[in-house]
Amino acid sequence: MLKRYHIIFLLFILGCVSCIRDPKQPGRAYMPDMQYSTAYDAGSPNPIFKDGKTDELAPPGSVGVGKYLYPLADSEYEKAATAITNPFTFTKEQIEGEGKHLFLMNCAICHGEKGDGQGHLVQIQKFPPPPSYLIEPLLSKPEGQRYHTLMYGKNMMGSYASQLDHRERWLVLSYVKSLQMAAVAQSKPATAAKTDSTKTK
Ligand code: HEC
Repeated sequence: MLKRYHIIFLLFILGCVSCIRDPKQPGRAYMPDMQYSTAYDAGSPNPIFKDGKTDELAPPGSVGVGKYLYPLADSEYEKAATAITNPFTFTKEQIEGEGKHLFLMNCAICHGEKGDGQGHLVQIQKFPPPPSYLIEPLLSKPEGQRYHTLMYGKNMMGSYASQLDHRERWLVLSYVKSLQMAAVAQSKPATAAKTDSTKTK
């Protein structure tokens, strides 16, 4: 007859034995599916998805959460002049801080710190001078077209669609605008002085 104390003794022994762990033994896998998950290689056949491939592409026109969908195609540069406008209002601190930082990091190497088209690459003759922001036609270039150029690039200038996000693109363009306004403000007294001197002649 199995007595109560026999059971207690057995449980005690079982308890002691079950706690022995050999670190070199992986132990028993009761649910191997959970222990060893099946990994698929990117693009390998997979019957679960519609196109039969792991990493199914998102449907056309999908936009990531919090991402921005640019509505124009590369060829619609003219349309950008009126269709695209800056939705953000940045403070002077943001423009002079983060905006300037982004400009110096990404753009000044060609466009120059002042935006005159005399960046470092131009000075060491590795790149032909881009047009100056401070004179026409760039001085009054519509902001939408500037943004379009950042999205798709233009001739010798590459796209910044992947380097900068929507907000950063407008922030850096706001800094470009502030460079232009500073240059215009600086040239005004000079022109006024000139008119004055012609008057006195
Ligand atoms: C590799 C050199 C290079 C870099 C870096 C560069 N640009 Fe340009 N950018 C150019 C050239 C060249 C043009 C003239 C394109 C044309 O009209 O042929 C240009 C044109 C522009 C224009 C005028 C666009 C228009 O629609 O006419 C803007 C605005 C501009 N760049 C802003 C930027 C900003 C902002 C950055 C940084 C995020 C930047 N660029 C980085 C070379 C560069």
